[in-house]
Amino acid sequence: MRRPLVAGNWKMHGTRASVSELIDGLRLQDLPEDVEVAVMPTFVHLTSVIDAVADGAIVVGAQDCAFEPMPCALTGEVAASQLIDAGCRYVLVGHSERRQLLGETDALIVRKFAAAQGVGLIPLLCVGETLAEREAGQTLDVVMRQLRAIVDALGVAVLERAVIAYEPVWAIGTGLTATPEQAQEVHAAIRRYIAQCSAQVAQGVRILYGGSVKATGAAELFGMPDIDGGLVGGASLNADEFGAICRAAR
Ligand code: G3P
Repeated sequence: MRRPLVAGNWKMHGTRASVSELIDGLRLQDLPEDVEVAVMPTFVHLTSVIDAVADGAIVVGAQDCAFEPMPCALTGEVAASQLIDAGCRYVLVGHSERRQLLGETDALIVRKFAAAQGVGLIPLLCVGETLAEREAGQTLDVVMRQLRAIVDALGVAVLERAVIAYEPVWAIGTGLTATPEQAQEVHAAIRRYIAQCSAQVAQGVRILYGGSVKATGAAELFGMPDIDGGLVGGASLNADEFGAICRAAR
């Protein structure tokens, strides 16, 4: 049985005051014990959030990490070792915004994925297609290419210590949520692909859905057999909404 995970990707949002207020709001939420709840602040707020939730049930992840091997102590980058030292459990790799806007390639994402696992972080690998790719019938080709980059380079067993998030790019920040059927189709295909390499890994790996997840509709999404939770953007910035999404994952 896979334990559901709901992770809030705060993206480039937050001030010290708003982060403190959001954490206070989350503390008041009835968060289900049988659902793993994570928040992913910006690097600036990472340690204060880790300290603020240390006594509770919420775990923390980072939104990115440096690739390795790194040629030097690269200015502006944050090493995976620093994230695990700070108390992070997860780190996003391959988020579509970084692929699309910062030109992150599959090869670079493999190096970030390996860097994260190398220090004991759990990489949360983001995959997903653009609207043009979906309309061209290329959804599964794109998602499998992104996933195969990791499996071909590192082996399927690494997915036992990872989480996958299917985030259709056309649903991110648009209010356009994939239907449960659309999401389930891709999740099932991901699990089938992994099962070709290892039935055990396929059965155990958690596959989250991300892309305009809201409390309304979350239970139907999370009720699909191959959807193991959500990667939530905008809705995670509201404690009540995020709490309701977490409860919908029970
Ligand atoms: O990583 C989650 C994010 O990409 C989804 O954003 O605002 O569509 O929930 P949003």
